[in-house]
Amino acid sequence: MKSNNNSSFSAHSPISLEIRKWAVSILGADTLEGKLYAPDILTDRDVGPPMEWNAPTRPTELRFQTAKREGKLPPFHAHHNPDSRAACLHRFAGHELLAVEIMAYALLKFPDAPPHFRKGLAHTLKEEQEHVRLYCAQLKRLGVTFGDLPLYRHFWCHTPYLNSPIEYVSVMSLTFEMANLDFAPMYGHSFEKHGDPDAAALMARILKDEIAHVSFGWRWLQKFKAPQLSDWDAWKKAQSPLLTPKRARGFVLHEEHRKRAGVSDSWIKNLKSL
Ligand SMILES: [Fe+2]
Ligand SMILES: [Fe+2]
Repeated sequence: MKSNNNSSFSAHSPISLEIRKWAVSILGADTLEGKLYAPDILTDRDVGPPMEWNAPTRPTELRFQTAKREGKLPPFHAHHNPDSRAACLHRFAGHELLAVEIMAYALLKFPDAPPHFRKGLAHTLKEEQEHVRLYCAQLKRLGVTFGDLPLYRHFWCHTPYLNSPIEYVSVMSLTFEMANLDFAPMYGHSFEKHGDPDAAALMARILKDEIAHVSFGWRWLQKFKAPQLSDWDAWKKAQSPLLTPKRARGFVLHEEHRKRAGVSDSWIKNLKSL
């Protein structure tokens, strides 16, 4: 997998790293830079045996709160206040970092998954790293540093139920990322309305990438599922028991974003009925 920096005029010779080593370095990093590091070239020749992590290493300032449940976000009508917007953006940055780690976790847990699946997952992971950077830049603009507010284990509570690639795509791509097809535009609209076009532009960017991430999960669900099961039934069967199907949508369901991700009409109809 090649990075953008492929120029023969580049100052350094390209750094190449095995996906396995990269994933270990992300989960074991004790700095944010380490969590966000990506080499120029990723190779996947030495997948090794399945590896499981109970919890990631975290920099001190990014350690998880002991409370499992996330505290409430400021209400939408408070978004005129920059501190309220920063609290939302901080929470979302936390989710992005969790996504980075869970994707690294999946790369280590499923060495025998199809090479194309692993390649796509590694590509998605890089985009999640970029999302963390983009949120950090917005937080900085609002005078907040990533880690100033509480961070939660959230996605890590589901790793005991991620025992196969279909369970991974069902939980990450088709529940959490799927729900963001509704939440990202909802927050983007509110930030715009409350005079913060930069934060709104970031939510639009996130939505665009998230549609591609849902599409990735959707395509692999078709490949991994038992042929006799419908998309919907296969997804529900592979869900984490800690989740309900309703977690894959917001209060307002954006059908068009799911259609752009290739999600079927019957699936959307089922989700709408929840
Ligand atoms: Fe993301
Ligand atoms: Fe994503």
